Amino acid sequence: MGRKFFVGGNWKCNGTTAEVKKIVITLNEAEVPSEDVVEVVVSPPFVFLTLVKSLLRSDFHVAAQNCWVRKGGAFTGEVSAEMLVNLAIPWVIIGHSERRLILNESNEFVGDKVAYALSQGLKVVACVGETLEQRESGSTVAVVSAQTKAIADKVLSWENIVLAYEPVWAIGTGKVASPAQAQEVHFELRKWLHDNVGAEVAASTRIIYGGSVNGANCTELATQPDVDGFLVGGASLKPEFIDVIKSATVKKND
Ligand code: PGA
Repeated sequence: MGRKFFVGGNWKCNGTTAEVKKIVITLNEAEVPSEDVVEVVVSPPFVFLTLVKSLLRSDFHVAAQNCWVRKGGAFTGEVSAEMLVNLAIPWVIIGHSERRLILNESNEFVGDKVAYALSQGLKVVACVGETLEQRESGSTVAVVSAQTKAIADKVLSWENIVLAYEPVWAIGTGKVASPAQAQEVHFELRKWLHDNVGAEVAASTRIIYGGSVNGANCTELATQPDVDGFLVGGASLKPEFIDVIKSATVKKND
């Protein structure tokens, strides 16, 4: 259905100016499939966004890792969607499990953030995912469906949303979901979109996987029909991120 492969690099709260520059040099020198085949978006911490944007090759783009839920103002420590737009930052990651769980961001708050960011013209990587307890109790699909519904309830269009399925038990643990586990949840998420938003949105929305993706496991995951790319944490700080970008070519050979 023409869903362009999407590879996001989530640098989280890592890096010095020198380290960030080094990563950008590695990315700039890499030979990767063209922009028609893969969309690459890296997400440095706020303080490095403009530096990375200014140095990064023009076929790669940048994302913020969060933004404020409404218009800016007296909200100490926050960064507004308007500011990101002002700096020509095209993307923002919203609802990452580290923010949901450590900073207590609720489904509703995440839905509000996604809707506000879209209303200001940002494109959004919206994250969902279950904890190990939730998986073991058999509620994975119910949990990710509720997280997705909270977003769907607030947004007018899915055109500028990439949905990232990131099981919490796989993030930063080295315990990647098996291709079958990822495919199963991606299939359910697409079905949810089909039944609750519409067939066209279900067919066109990219659903990417995140959680211990690396250069060695990406290709097999990418062969799954409902895996449209990746959100990469730890490995996005390393040269193997290039291998994850290259896994996009798996889809071309289908
Ligand atoms: P990881 O993180 O690749 O280090 O597991 C993924 C993410 O949190 O987006």
